Amino acid sequence: MARATNAIAASEDLRTHLRSATMAAHDLLDNAMQEASGWGSRADYARFLALQHAARAPLEDWLADHAPADLVPPPQTPLIAADLDALGEALPPPAPGFMRTRAATGDALGAAWVLAGSALGNRAIAKQVARIGGGAWPTAFLDDSAMMAFWQGLRARIEQPVPASEADGAADTAAAVFAHFLAVAGQGARPGLGT
Ligand code: HEM
Repeated sequence: MARATNAIAASEDLRTHLRSATMAAHDLLDNAMQEASGWGSRADYARFLALQHAARAPLEDWLADHAPADLVPPPQTPLIAADLDALGEALPPPAPGFMRTRAATGDALGAAWVLAGSALGNRAIAKQVARIGGGAWPTAFLDDSAMMAFWQGLRARIEQPVPASEADGAADTAAAVFAHFLAVAGQGARPGLGT
């Protein structure tokens, strides 16, 4: 059994493993965020930023408390706060804390991958926001170059096979981070958050 699991981990790099383990969750989240806010108008974009802030605040706290320094992505909540301020919007309350009841190898890696990998999606969203907003909407968060730099460094770490226990821990935590975002997006679909 252990030999089979190790063989899987050895034949697949960690990034591929994480992507396939969370592909369905990412699709769900993409849909939920489009439904909860989208970014088709200034008000929608403000709600999108409020969701991002509420969801990321407890995750950034968790990583700061639990991850080794090289796996703590640059905080993005200050950038989101600046964007909200430029739009004349107040900061939303943070979402309930992000809890992992156990500490497994790979936990920090899985959480860091989700936050840093989302910068890839943000790059695509930034182009749409620039077009829809006519270049007038603030995009410190979507254009965050520090997160892209962190992402490039993380790639070296994840584009290689890792022990199965680490791959499993990373995938579990990545799934928990997606579930956390999904819960926040679900709340955002109701009136009240960032409106
Ligand atoms: C809001 C709607 C979203 C859209 C439209 C979107 C779009 C995308 C796109 C286009 C990619 C692939 C980029 C590429 O391969 O070059 C991607 C990857 C990714 N996104 Fe999203 N995304 C969204 C939300 C999120 C959120 C909220 C998170 C997590 C907090 C997230 C996490 C990720 C991760 C982890 C990857 C994969 C990184 C890798 O390739 O290893 N995305 N997203």
